[in-house]
Amino acid sequence: MGSSSYLLRVFITAVMFMQAHSSIPTIVGLYGETIAVPCNNGEAQPDGLMFTKWKYMKDDNTAGDLLVKQAHKEEATIQASDGYRDRVSIAPNSSLLIAKGTLEDQRLFTCMQVWGSNVKEYPVQVAVHKRPSPPQIKDKAQELENGKLTTLGSCLASDANPVAVLSWTKDGQTLVADDKTIKITEDVTTDPTTGLSTASSTLDYTAGKGDVGSQFSCVATHPLEVQESAPETFTVHYPTEKVSLQVINKDAIKEGDDVTLKCHADGNPPPTGFNFYLKDQKVPVLNDDTYTLQGVTRTSGGEYKCSLLDDESKHDTQSIIVHFLDLSVSPSGKVLKNFGDTLVVTAETNASVDVQVSWTKDNQKLMKQPVFTKLIYADAGLYVVEASVAGIKQNHSFELDVQGKPSIKDLTEETSFDGNSKVLSCEAEGSPEPSVQWSVNGTNEKRSLYSNGKVTHKITVVPSKNLTVLCTVTNSLGDDSRAIFLPSVNVETHTEEGTDRSNGNDQAKLIVGIVVGLILAAAIVGLIYWLYMKNSRQGSWKTREKEMGTSEEEKKLEENNHKPDV
Ligand SMILES: *[C@@H]1O[C@H](CO)[C@@H](O)[C@H](O)[C@H]1NC(C)=O
Ligand SMILES: *[C@@H]1O[C@H](CO)[C@@H](O)[C@H](O)[C@H]1NC(C)=O
Ligand SMILES: *[C@@H]1O[C@H](CO)[C@@H](O)[C@H](O)[C@H]1NC(C)=O
Repeated sequence: MGSSSYLLRVFITAVMFMQAHSSIPTIVGLYGETIAVPCNNGEAQPDGLMFTKWKYMKDDNTAGDLLVKQAHKEEATIQASDGYRDRVSIAPNSSLLIAKGTLEDQRLFTCMQVWGSNVKEYPVQVAVHKRPSPPQIKDKAQELENGKLTTLGSCLASDANPVAVLSWTKDGQTLVADDKTIKITEDVTTDPTTGLSTASSTLDYTAGKGDVGSQFSCVATHPLEVQESAPETFTVHYPTEKVSLQVINKDAIKEGDDVTLKCHADGNPPPTGFNFYLKDQKVPVLNDDTYTLQGVTRTSGGEYKCSLLDDESKHDTQSIIVHFLDLSVSPSGKVLKNFGDTLVVTAETNASVDVQVSWTKDNQKLMKQPVFTKLIYADAGLYVVEASVAGIKQNHSFELDVQGKPSIKDLTEETSFDGNSKVLSCEAEGSPEPSVQWSVNGTNEKRSLYSNGKVTHKITVVPSKNLTVLCTVTNSLGDDSRAIFLPSVNVETHTEEGTDRSNGNDQAKLIVGIVVGLILAAAIVGLIYWLYMKNSRQGSWKTREKEMGTSEEEKKLEENNHKPDV
């Protein structure tokens, strides 16, 4: 019983001790700055406080006095005799202030307060932190070799407490060492004077083609701050797998063009030169990836190739089509032909691909190539043939003139609107333009436009007697004439003044006569009515008398009624 109670007491004491120690608050101060160590977690000072005293745990685990402050005094009494002598003071809230914190200050400090018969001690563990200098990647690799484990660089985060934890990221993703493609070697050194630690980490990395442009960073994780280095990118070397040949020309290639070939290899760094194969000829080109064929001809078309200088199995080919167009047309220039002749037109093309050919005559589109088996005047004109192929245009023209001795196509006469004159019309055909002459002097001469070899000439004549009129057409190649008989217009039945006016007078007289006749008839009807009314009022016998006795008078009245003239 006695031994068990003793054990129990030891156990309880141990628990209490552990509780006491585990409940000791820790405060973190910053390296180089003033550390404020609170008394009793910063609780209000007790009533009747007599004094506050601060002690510390020395390196040999013995207690050392720092200072004591009487409640009624302004100033505290410094008791420390070592390095703390000039660094410690007390705040009005009883906190211990330690100037210029160092790692030496990471120890247990105890505040003791005495009031009435109470004595209380409040221990505080002090930790001092310092963030590391910003992490930096050093000893950077010049370039990374595809598939080869290469030391990419080392990262340093110096002078920290506690030591910073370093990690590496690629494009924001943390790299995890697998000891095969990724190796990370870490080290920590501590400055013997300050006790601050420097972390270093070296990354060995196996790059692939996908690492072109990847951003590598070093991250330093520390309780005070997580810091990241500036990102670094690396040149990744990898061999060429694919060669491609490109024709730079944008448009279809035609004879006379310069054609530029460009060879590209997908390795890094790119090759410094290529072999270009021009037909059967191999041309090595150094320090350039292009080759220009100057002024290609139709025979330049075909397969072109390029390859690596040192590995001809890595190559690419392109075939080039050089477009061309030959156009030969007959006839050409100025062509003079006679009316009725035959003209053979030929247009031959020779081109790289199908040719589009179009014809125009005097800027009007023709549906097909013209065929002239028997030339007419209307065939004359400027003929243009245009052929085009892949941006090449060729044209050719001839100007056809059809000439011929004039001939009269038609000679007609027409009575004019008023009927007193004749309009003669002579239609002639011929080229050059024929001149037209008449055997009589006419008036109102009219000449149509000369077109398609035709011209029409009109004159107005007043034949006072029977006339035979001759139309004669002439050009440099000859002449033609035709006659027409014009019977005389009956001029002697009309006055000398002119047919127009006498005809007008007759009509006027006729109209006046009709009007006067109508007025007279109305007057007579009125008179008869008046007489009839008068007689019927006097008696019916008078009416009968009238019927019997005045029939002759009535006849006379009726004759008057029908007479046109007064
Ligand atoms: C006590 O005072 C000091 C100095 O004025 C200050 O830095 C500290 O924060 C105070 N502590 C508490 C717990 O109020
Ligand atoms: C036409 O008139 C001119 C003068 O005006 C005259 O000399 C000529 O003889 C006339 N010709 C005919 C056919 O009447
Ligand atoms: C005019 O010609 C007509 C026939 O068309 C003929 O009857 C007439 O006699 C001729 N007159 C003269 C004056 O010759």
